[in-house]
Amino acid sequence: MQGRAWLSLIHILLITTVVAIATPVSVVRHPNYNANVTRISVHHNPNYHANGTKSLVHVYYKYGITPILPGPYHRGDDGILRKRQEDGTTGVVTADDQENDMYYTCPVEIGTPPQTLNLNFDTGSSDTWVWSTAIPETELASTSGETLFDPSKSSTFHNMPGSTWQIRYGDGSSASGTVGTDVVKIGSITIEGQAVELANQLSRQLLNDSVANGLLGLGFSFINNVIPIRVQTPLENMILQNDIPTNQELFTCYLGSYKDVNDPDGGRSFYSFGDIDESVIPSGQELCYTPINNTRGFWMFDSPSVIINGEQYDLPKYQAVADTGTTLLLLPDEVCRQFYGQIPGSEYSEADQGWVYPTNTSPNDLPDFSVAVGTCPITIDKEHIGFAPSLKPNMTFGGIQSPGNLKFGIFGDIFLQNVYAVFDGGILRFGVVQRADPTPDGQQS
Ligand SMILES: *[C@@H]1O[C@H](CO)[C@@H](O)[C@H](O)[C@H]1NC(C)=O
Ligand SMILES: *[C@@H]1O[C@H](CO)[C@@H](O)[C@H](O)[C@H]1NC(C)=O
Ligand SMILES: *[C@@H]1O[C@H](CO)[C@@H](O)[C@H](O)[C@H]1NC(C)=O
Ligand SMILES: *[C@@H]1O[C@H](CO)[C@@H](O)[C@H](O)[C@H]1NC(C)=O
Ligand SMILES: *[C@@H]1O[C@H](CO)[C@@H](O)[C@H](O)[C@H]1NC(C)=O
Repeated sequence: MQGRAWLSLIHILLITTVVAIATPVSVVRHPNYNANVTRISVHHNPNYHANGTKSLVHVYYKYGITPILPGPYHRGDDGILRKRQEDGTTGVVTADDQENDMYYTCPVEIGTPPQTLNLNFDTGSSDTWVWSTAIPETELASTSGETLFDPSKSSTFHNMPGSTWQIRYGDGSSASGTVGTDVVKIGSITIEGQAVELANQLSRQLLNDSVANGLLGLGFSFINNVIPIRVQTPLENMILQNDIPTNQELFTCYLGSYKDVNDPDGGRSFYSFGDIDESVIPSGQELCYTPINNTRGFWMFDSPSVIINGEQYDLPKYQAVADTGTTLLLLPDEVCRQFYGQIPGSEYSEADQGWVYPTNTSPNDLPDFSVAVGTCPITIDKEHIGFAPSLKPNMTFGGIQSPGNLKFGIFGDIFLQNVYAVFDGGILRFGVVQRADPTPDGQQS
């Protein structure tokens, strides 16, 4: 029923032909370049293996999505996500079915003296939780020497008696634990008394993440999971404690891709807090801001249209969230159909539960594609349109996929890798500027 309401919502109207977005220009250092911006460098997981279906299952869990298009994964009447096995029977979704390995992590110092943990910076959730010494040895046995936060070794750690947290997943498993406060240092910014959620129990799914030692939630605290009283996120505390300038109550995100290792920026990624790094804004361009609605805890903005090969499709009242913790770009089914319809040989693959296209498609044969963030169209470079190998031989799982029954879009890394993004919590706006990619068609050696 929800699905039907959703479909009728998408009356995509063919409007008009529009001229292509400005061609990329080379990066030129701005005259007002602030050499003091502290970049928090992002670690790229060298062992990450992209798997389209796994990434979809991860986002299904995160947003409670019911898949609409056919494939192995479906939600029963009880709301539990299940997998159809090859023999036709239905089974549970296991750790191996979903993406848990994080591609990006950032070092964060917690406690006194500082203990450095590598956390997944996630704008799509609002809990800051870490692997801790409270996790029983038996649960850790299957892992490979994770870094654990040890509160007993921090002189500034204070327990928050009575506060607990639990994050439930669609398969009935969960992560949970206690809460304390401590000094948290991100880049050059020190937050006093940041609530840190200590895991003492982790689901098998989370135990299988070989790289991240926890998560740093950069959504809004409306969706924080601490009870009885929700806690503030690091950005909210930076604002409350005046750790960042009152006219720059924001963080920025520049996510690179392994496809850009030979570009001048080396495909490197960074975050900054309290300052915008003007040096990565292409000369002559400006950040384009759109108001956000944070009542659901997300960085949610209007995304009223897409442009496919020069044809604009209106998405009346459509909204989307910017999510650094999701890899794919999820857009209405009708947009996916139109988009892949322009790639010869593409198809919807039930086995992969996603759209796939021939791997040998030349970049010239991939559609020019842009999505709107408010009034600003952002081009998705062709190198980002292919995400991972498909189960079908010689086919590639696309980076743009169905949002199932979710009524809004999700702009994950496939989108964010094309922009420099500003998450402004003071003015409640999201700013983007198209990045200049010297090799927008893919890696060049
Ligand atoms: C950078 O920091 C130095 C020392 O703190 C300060 O003197 C200078 O004005 C800062 N520059 C900018 C552009 O903010
Ligand atoms: C983690 O995932 C790998 C491959 O996806 C699998 O071989 C391994 O058994 C999993 N480990 C746990 C603890 O679930
Ligand atoms: C992706 O992961 C799923 C779940 O583990 C697995 O069944 C599938 O074979 C993988 N796909 C590819 C193309 O390797
Ligand atoms: C913000 O989103 C909420 C929940 O979706 C909605 O009820 C509210 O009307 C929205 N506010 C504005 C100003 O659009
Ligand atoms: C896939 O491509 C390879 C190399 O181009 C070719 O040898 C093989 O036959 C193709 N497989 C299928 C099933 O088309």
